[in-house]
Amino acid sequence: MNAANKPPHAANLTWHTAGVSTDDLAALHGHPGITLWFCGLSGSGKSTLANAVSVALHARGISTFVLDGDNVRFGLNSDLGFSDADRLENNRRVGEVARLFTKAAIVNLAAFISPFAADRELVRSLQPDTFVEIYCHADLALCEARDPKGLYKKARAGEIAQFTGIDSPYEVPENPDLRLDTGRESIEACVARVLALLVARGVIPA
Ligand code: ADX
Repeated sequence: MNAANKPPHAANLTWHTAGVSTDDLAALHGHPGITLWFCGLSGSGKSTLANAVSVALHARGISTFVLDGDNVRFGLNSDLGFSDADRLENNRRVGEVARLFTKAAIVNLAAFISPFAADRELVRSLQPDTFVEIYCHADLALCEARDPKGLYKKARAGEIAQFTGIDSPYEVPENPDLRLDTGRESIEACVARVLALLVARGVIPA
């Protein structure tokens, strides 16, 4: 905790140092934690890819957890909708949860549209050294053709307001740590690229 992220009621708060440190937990798990933040349009394959990476890592004995946009909105973020302000709060809360998972030495995989560059920068700033932004690129036309949940159809029919890509913007990441062409590349190829990144960063062995 430092002055930069001091909460408004800091005067009456006391920071407690953990008895079991992040290093202790990393030693127990055999690897450090990290956040893999998958962003992209609805239907671009974020959740599918995050889960496929999680399964591949789990098979190698790595501790993982997936934080999925739809799922988190059933619980922790059930009070939030899809206005710009609610998306910011949605991403911010999950960014904080992801940071806790990293501190617990867990490879955490967050799959969120996170359409705004400023919101993605905010979540990165919470843990700059342990945050990897993975842009799942697929053309809007392809996502709309896939329409796995039938939501683009509803949005076009005017039944859903502020739908990303239709009447709510998607700001394309300009400098992601990894850009995956999920519209063209196979899931296996995308998984392999994420695993290679984790090897290169020394999170998992080759
Ligand atoms: S984010 O913009 O706040 O990051 P998040 O990833 O949590 O979005 O949730 C996106 C999911 O919510 C979509 O995959 C879709 O299933 C559902 N959804 C419902 N309404 C909308 C909407 N207006 N825009 C985008 N996604 C929506």
